[in-house]
This record gives sequence, C-alpha cells and structure tokens, in this order.
Amino acid sequence: MLRQYLYISTAPGLPREEIENILEACKRNNEKRDVTGLLLYNGRNFMQLLEGDAADLFWVMRKISSDKRHSGISRLADIAVDERSCPDWTMRHVQIADDVDARRAKLEAELPDNLQRRIRETILNFAILN
Ligand SMILES: Cc1cc2nc3c(=O)[nH]c(=O)nc-3n(C[C@H](O)[C@H](O)[C@H](O)COP(=O)(O)O)c2cc1C
Repeated sequence: MLRQYLYISTAPGLPREEIENILEACKRNNEKRDVTGLLLYNGRNFMQLLEGDAADLFWVMRKISSDKRHSGISRLADIAVDERSCPDWTMRHVQIADDVDARRAKLEAELPDNLQRRIRETILNFAILN
C-alpha cells in the first residue's frame, strides 16, 4: 500500500556539492525502489517527503537514518495515500527562495496540488521559517 513519509533532520552548513551527491544517490536508489518525493534544505535543516510502498520506504529510510551527514531525524508524518504527489520525481530538490516575502508564493506554486492539507502546510511552514 502506498504511503507518504515526512521528516526533518539537522545538517548545518552542508555544501551544495553534498546536496548534489544526495540527489544522485536518490536517482540511483529511489528509481529502483519506485520511491519518489521532494527534498528541501534551508542551510541548517532538511525536510524530505518520501512516497512509495511501505517496504521500499523502510529500505530507503534505513539508508537515510544511518547517514552521518545529518542527525536528529524526526518523523512528522507517516500516512497511507491513494496516489502519489510526486510521481515524476525520484527526488525533487525544491529550492527555497532567498527573498523571504517571495518564498511562500513561490512554494505554493511549486508544491504538488494533491498534497494533503496538513503535509502541505507543514512543508510551507518549514520553508518560510528562517
Ligand atoms: C537528507 C538526506 C536525504 C537522503 N535521501 C535519500 C533518498 O531519498 N534515497 C537514497 O537512496 N538516498 C538518500 N540519501 C543518501 C543516503 O543516506 C545514502 O548515502 C545513500 O542512499 C547511499 O547510497 P548507495 O548505497 O547507493 O551508495 C539521503 C541523505 C540525506 C542526508
């Protein structure tokens, strides 16, 4: 059964290059496991939405949980869904705009329409925090 898993973690000052490495691992592994989702990084914290079958999410989360590049992984949601919100993205890196005033509008436009309201709000709140 299809699930969505949302978490935050901490990784202060991770260089851009490491984000690229993470996205490459996502492409390599998530495609094989049919895991999709989105990733946000604000310079201190990650927020990641993963979606797929429970066993595949468990497999990916095991890798992510033992990754020393971040710590303090906190689950925010783990829900059953009828359809994917990010079917075409092995992992979409959603950029947070520098301009604080433009952030919310830019994200509103960029986030998938069919996200559950609570998940959407949680992602928006994370992205406009700093
Ligand atoms: C915030 C964060 C998100 C990550 N997301 C994924 C992911 O969705 N899929 C994945 O395979 N690896 C992800 N990684 C990387 C894994 O922790 C791990 O380095 C990688 O899966 C190892 O891949 P390999 O066994 O193919 O070398 C993430 C790492 C971090 C720090």
